[in-house]
Amino acid sequence: MTDAKSLQDPFLSDIKAANDLSALEEIRLKALGKQGKVTQLMKSLGKMSPEERQEKGPVYNALRQILTEALANRRHILEEQALEARLASEYLDVTLPVRHQAEGRIHPLSQAMFEAISILKEMGFSVAEGPHIEDDFYNFTALNIPELHPARQEQDTFYFREDASGQRKVLRTHTSPVQIRTMLQSKPPLRIIAPGRVFRSDYDQTHTPVFHQIEGLYVDKNIHMGHLKGCLIDFCRRYFDNPRLPVRFRPAYFPFTEPSAEVDIACTRRNGQLLIGEGEAWLEILGAGMVHRKVLENGGIDPDVYQGFAFGMGVERIAMLKYGIPDLRSFYDGDQRWLKHHGFGAYSSLMGGV
Ligand code: DAH
Repeated sequence: MTDAKSLQDPFLSDIKAANDLSALEEIRLKALGKQGKVTQLMKSLGKMSPEERQEKGPVYNALRQILTEALANRRHILEEQALEARLASEYLDVTLPVRHQAEGRIHPLSQAMFEAISILKEMGFSVAEGPHIEDDFYNFTALNIPELHPARQEQDTFYFREDASGQRKVLRTHTSPVQIRTMLQSKPPLRIIAPGRVFRSDYDQTHTPVFHQIEGLYVDKNIHMGHLKGCLIDFCRRYFDNPRLPVRFRPAYFPFTEPSAEVDIACTRRNGQLLIGEGEAWLEILGAGMVHRKVLENGGIDPDVYQGFAFGMGVERIAMLKYGIPDLRSFYDGDQRWLKHHGFGAYSSLMGGV
């Protein structure tokens, strides 16, 4: 029979020496687990005579008590130590200066796009989209630009190879095809803008093969030129942040509108700088007009019941004018120094111009 006294000291010194919680648990099992030595002692009480049990019972109980307490104390110490170690290893010095992180800039094109869209959305337009690769029908024919019409050559189009049916797809030369897609998809009243990328085979200081437009289309009953003018004057004044900006509508020609207009804003040059909103000169910024009857018909809309106005503007152009960027090609150079200079911080862009 194992003597209680002879168990106590070795267990106590083992407990004291246990370096981590799992070592301690092993000792607990050896002493107090189901097969543990102290547990065995406790079990042996059942087979003893009452006298013997009376003598050994308190001794064994005391042993169990002592070891249970020692285990609990040691566990507490080890847990504290583990916590200390964790705190030490995860120590975070919040007073250290932040490590420098390269911060991106919002491209002026994105900024201009964002500002223009925000103003138009506030006026009640919602954003519509169309594909970059267009059918000849949507890009030209439905917009009243017939086969062999000079407008097709004017817009130096990127054509795809003929498909099996003899059709040539195009990279859309403007966002106007979204007008047709919208009219065919939904019923008036329609009030959409279509911002997006367009493509023409052209490259100089004011042309790049890829550029961006925002198309606008408003179709409803009793829409007239006054609505068009009000909407665009308001837009220009808000975009250029000048409530008195002079805006001029000049007669023009587009196959898809009748009458058509080009919209100019006042400007002047002083000390080699372009100043918007003052002076005698005019700068064209967008094309517009009342949607041509034939275009409404091609969109499945009865032109005797509904009228509409439309407009299209170049985003690079309005960005260049607002931010004083002289060369359109620089938008696409990917020059970090240029972007640092002309770009916008993420926060200013959220507030910017709106
Ligand atoms: N699609 C024309 C272009 O790319 C711009 C334009 C002019 C759009 C008049 C319109 C419009 O919706 O009414 O040159």
